Amino acid sequence: MKRILLIIGGGIAAYKSLELIRRLRDAGFEVQAVLTKAGAEFITPLSVAALSEQPVYSELFSLKDETEMGHIQLSRKADVVLVCPATADLMAKMVHGLANDLASTVLLATDKPVIVVPAMNVRMWEHKATQRNLTQLTADGVHCIGPVTGPMACGEHGMGRMSEVGDIVAAVQSHFRAGPLHGKHAIVTAGPTHEPIDPVRYIANRSSGKQGYAVAAALAAHGARVTLVSGPTNLTAPHGTTLVKVETAHEMYEAVHKALPADIAVCVAAVADWRVKPAPQKLKKSAHMPKLELSENPDILASLCALKDERRPACVVGFAAETTDILSHARAKLKSKSCDIIVANDVSETSTIFGCDTTTVDIISATAQTHHARVSKTMAADALVQTLIQTMDLNI
Ligand code: C5P
Repeated sequence: MKRILLIIGGGIAAYKSLELIRRLRDAGFEVQAVLTKAGAEFITPLSVAALSEQPVYSELFSLKDETEMGHIQLSRKADVVLVCPATADLMAKMVHGLANDLASTVLLATDKPVIVVPAMNVRMWEHKATQRNLTQLTADGVHCIGPVTGPMACGEHGMGRMSEVGDIVAAVQSHFRAGPLHGKHAIVTAGPTHEPIDPVRYIANRSSGKQGYAVAAALAAHGARVTLVSGPTNLTAPHGTTLVKVETAHEMYEAVHKALPADIAVCVAAVADWRVKPAPQKLKKSAHMPKLELSENPDILASLCALKDERRPACVVGFAAETTDILSHARAKLKSKSCDIIVANDVSETSTIFGCDTTTVDIISATAQTHHARVSKTMAADALVQTLIQTMDLNI
């Protein structure tokens, strides 16, 4: 039986952790809880103990708690540490390695995978400090479930609401499932790039990043370790992926090559083909139109395909956004870029792919071609991962 150490932070969403304990136990997990002092302002140790059927620990300097189960033992006995709800304060403590109560000490002492489930007010979630902390936690290998957008207990609406209990249980279950891509490292590029013109202006495109994030989620769900290199988007990194945020094509190129070696690379990003030599000061409106001198950006996909020997990922996937002769252009791109799979999609004026949740794709490899019309981007990502698994000759 897998053991979960559940750390309950102090937020109104703490009441949902009671239902979470019940649902995790129904799913066959043993749950041991640590209730923070702030968490105990929202729910009682008695209800947590009753639902988990385990003693609940709260105090770092409690003789009873330390003799029953020391904090080091508590952190090591679990198979995974789940912080739910993870408050802005708990996340900040984790980033800085603070250890001034039982929960933060356990989090610093553990050598087990840690999953955080953030829940907080939208402004707190969007605050630069929290976003900085999230980036650092992801870089430290901490997994993140949610948050999601929706109404909040404080009356506001937005991103910061805790994921639904059923989704948390599903994410924890998938954490323990070794998929066919277990042990493989995948790099995914996603979103647009921003190429600065001057300190306030940039060249961009309409990519939302939804398809790239869906591919990253599908790869992680099949067991891969995923590095998601993303241009600017409004999306949250899917559970089980490590997010590296970039702005320009050059930064994306550097981040991708830094993340090597990889077994799989999927280039979904709509990388700007050109960049401008940015002006050091904001360009002034004047009688003379400014002349933008463009130079070509590096082709990340082609650079990965061209890598020699074991540095080249075993399977490299490109996307071909086309407006005419979609299939023949995509096949030509499969050859010219020397990738293993190409995903063709129609971005002509009649299609509504950019920013939408649905897409129409053709997935083309050397030996197979499948057509997926008006499917969700999640379904398109799943279909791509199935083709990738077949191409790599792995067992599903
Ligand atoms: O040549 P084209 O831009 O149509 O190719 C699209 C594919 O190449 C996509 O997979 C895209 O992510 C990738 N690409 C890239 N770096 C570039 C341009 C495109 O990785 N500079």
